[in-house]
Amino acid sequence: MRNNIIHPGADELTYEIREIVKVGNQIAKTGVDIIWENIGDPVAKGEKVPEWIKDIVADTVKNDNLSYGYSPTAGLLETREYIAKERNLEGGAQIIPDDILFFNGLGDAIATIYNYLNREARVLGPNPAYSTHSSAEAAHAGSRHITYNLNPDNNWYPDIKDMREKIIKHPEISAILIVNPDNPTGMVYSQDVIKQVVDIAKEFDLFIISDEIYSNLFYGGSVHNKLASVIGDTPGMALRGISKEFPWPGARCGWVEFYNRDKDEKFARYAKTIMDAKMMEVCATTLPQKVLPKVMGDDRYYPYLAQRTAKYWEKSQAAYAVFSKIPQLKVNLTKGAFYMTVVFKDGVLKDGQFLKPLNEKAAEIIKPLLKTELLDKQFAYHLLASRGICVVPLSSGFNSDLYGFRITLLETDMNKFKLIINTIADAIKEYIFSK
Ligand SMILES: Cc1ncc(COP(=O)(O)O)c(C=O)c1O
Repeated sequence: MRNNIIHPGADELTYEIREIVKVGNQIAKTGVDIIWENIGDPVAKGEKVPEWIKDIVADTVKNDNLSYGYSPTAGLLETREYIAKERNLEGGAQIIPDDILFFNGLGDAIATIYNYLNREARVLGPNPAYSTHSSAEAAHAGSRHITYNLNPDNNWYPDIKDMREKIIKHPEISAILIVNPDNPTGMVYSQDVIKQVVDIAKEFDLFIISDEIYSNLFYGGSVHNKLASVIGDTPGMALRGISKEFPWPGARCGWVEFYNRDKDEKFARYAKTIMDAKMMEVCATTLPQKVLPKVMGDDRYYPYLAQRTAKYWEKSQAAYAVFSKIPQLKVNLTKGAFYMTVVFKDGVLKDGQFLKPLNEKAAEIIKPLLKTELLDKQFAYHLLASRGICVVPLSSGFNSDLYGFRITLLETDMNKFKLIINTIADAIKEYIFSK
């Protein structure tokens, strides 16, 4: 090429959650049955979308000709009206339909949000991080994502002191990202924690991005507090979607709620840029928007979610009971979303630790990959080749300084779930004492 056509942020785009699948698929070809613990798709893990939701979708497809057409750029008015009404009934920040913008899944929203932010402006994000955010933010700036720590010794809550220090150290930070309930830690933040984040944002004149895609998936006595409940007059946005809730990730449907656009001119202009960018694409997918108020407004919706979250809670406790018995690990009972993050304490992982692969070919596949310096990645490859279980390493998968891995709480067969957890726990014990 006569010119450099490479985007400055090209090297920042990584998505280990799917990258590790390539290795898993290679190992599967050697005759190993892989248990996919890497991807947060309830449907892929066997959860059944209820018949009544399918009936609503089928009925809409059959009888609503407009579901085949484009929708307005921001999204269908009737759907935005429904969302705004529900939001306002909960109290806190009040919105109008024009404060809502639909996307083709939150992945699309996330890409757009960072893409159209001034290149010099940075968003401070959690560590560990959901990599779509951290990669997109880093790619937008052409430089490593700046993070604040989530503390495994304090329920994975944000380390507010660290957050404040990073904001002072990096004047280019213009926003704070929180993911609540969190992926990968499964933690739900108390209202007080969110309020502290809002207070910092206010003090330093920043806006807040709150990814609330799991907002209706909480359990174990926790309550989900939305950003809107404490945001006051600070500018911000909440990100929501139906991928995890319905669950219908294949619909590619998510939306952004903007708060307090009228309180800050620059924030209002930035929000308008995002809306204008969406206009270039015409609109987001129409069908899921058509269906959304009918599903969420149905009397069966919340009881259905309660039934699902009760099962996540059961699995969270079962996994916690097993992992918390291993003194070399740090683990927290998760209270939201459907993940659990297990951390290896400092110094536990070492180069050269080993698990015997299931066959020679699997050993050959992982051999070159074990050269990585990331010790939790080495563990993940060993686990894959020796037990056929695919987890996501924390360091490369979630932009983390800690070594560990994420599993999901999605396995629908409780006996199989317990077997998976016990197999991982046995593998950990064998691995850490192998050298
Ligand atoms: C925290 C978080 N945000 C956003 C997304 C993207 O969701 P989607 O693009 O399916 O709407 C995910 C998916 O796993 C997620 O975990």
